[in-house]
Amino acid sequence: MNSFKELVQKRRSYRNFTNEEIDSEDVKLILRAALMSPTSKGRRSWHFIVVDDKMAIEKLSDAKDMGAKFLAKSSLAIVVLGEPLQNDCWIEDGAIAALAMQLQAEELGLGSCWAQMRGRGLSDGTSADTVIRGILDIPENYNVLCVVGFGHKNEGRALQDEEALKWENVHINKF
Ligand SMILES: Cc1cc2nc3c(=O)[nH]c(=O)nc-3n(C[C@H](O)[C@H](O)[C@H](O)COP(=O)(O)O)c2cc1C
Repeated sequence: MNSFKELVQKRRSYRNFTNEEIDSEDVKLILRAALMSPTSKGRRSWHFIVVDDKMAIEKLSDAKDMGAKFLAKSSLAIVVLGEPLQNDCWIEDGAIAALAMQLQAEELGLGSCWAQMRGRGLSDGTSADTVIRGILDIPENYNVLCVVGFGHKNEGRALQDEEALKWENVHINKF
């Protein structure tokens, strides 16, 4: 069991995974973390699409030109959605839920990485949101924030370097 202090230091972005599937109990714990995360006004209006179909995950990895190819190696992808017309904090709510899932995954010894989708897309001008909407039948009122890829780690990564922390970005009382 990691203490929270250790967990935040161990959490890194993992983009290389083995083919091993993630245990369904672990998937449930990851989603539980998202569903327990704080939301503006307690709205809890995010939605999560759990994608474990290899073909669909591969299509998600092509939703933008750069930075999502690693998803194809994930055994699980969770698409984080919000409802901008109903919730002015849909981005914040979704981001917090995504991080909660990443920390839970790390505690389980699993790797994960965020693939940004909001505001990203293909060089022909198609947004990643449009591509993903088509793959997963997402209703019009929901927008895609990101896709988090999860899997069993197939690479080692160093702990976060305590010496490299940007303490200079922390200001006391005044900027
Ligand atoms: C808002 C956000 C967007 C990100 N988008 C991507 C992405 O599209 N593709 C990717 O490979 N990593 C993405 N990342 C992961 C970052 O590259 C990574 O967190 C950063 O380089 C620090 O590395 P670490 O997570 O290993 O500490 C994103 C992270 C955040 C928080």
